[in-house]
Amino acid sequence: MTRPAAPDSPEAAFELPDAEATMALGARLAAPLQAGDVVLLRGDLGAGKTTLARGLVAAWTGVDEDAPSPTYTLVQVYESARGPLWHMDLYRLQDPEEALELGLEDALIEAVTVIEWPERLGAFAPPHRLEIDLAAQGAGRRAIVRGFGRLAGAAHVG
Ligand SMILES: Nc1ncnc2c1ncn2[C@@H]1O[C@H](COP(=O)(O)OP(=O)(O)O)[C@@H](O)[C@H]1O
Ligand SMILES: [Mg+2]
Repeated sequence: MTRPAAPDSPEAAFELPDAEATMALGARLAAPLQAGDVVLLRGDLGAGKTTLARGLVAAWTGVDEDAPSPTYTLVQVYESARGPLWHMDLYRLQDPEEALELGLEDALIEAVTVIEWPERLGAFAPPHRLEIDLAAQGAGRRAIVRGFGRLAGAAHVG
């Protein structure tokens, strides 16, 4: 399933034949996360961003129930023994200022922050982050994961 570009590369590619594989990737990427880390989920509508976030949330909280998509609320906050996790969907964000009003700055320090449509924030590259690009591949999906800062090695979770 894992096809690292190179053993010491911060980037890895994953073929995801079904939604369960997308969830499983999200769950595995949750392992190294800690407060202050950010996961940026990029890709078109239907690419699998919320599915990956659900797998990540389930692993973070240890509760395997379907996390609601924050399509309309913009953010869902989860608490667990490992600390808070914010799941944001910024598709409907009109202005980056709105994200600040929601408390994004505090979340970036105190929580793990998982963001769908991070493009809505403009140039946004917090230091410790995973950038995940999802795209259709046949009936399934393909994910490219890149790690930065203390997550530089975290893309390799095969
Ligand atoms: N690897 C995959 N292969 C096939 N379908 C998938 C895969 N991952 C997710 N899906 C499905 O794609 C649809 C859209 O997923 P979703 O996570 O809501 O996308 P997004 O949040 O990017 O708009 C859902 O029906 C989901 O089950
Ligand atoms: Mg979504």
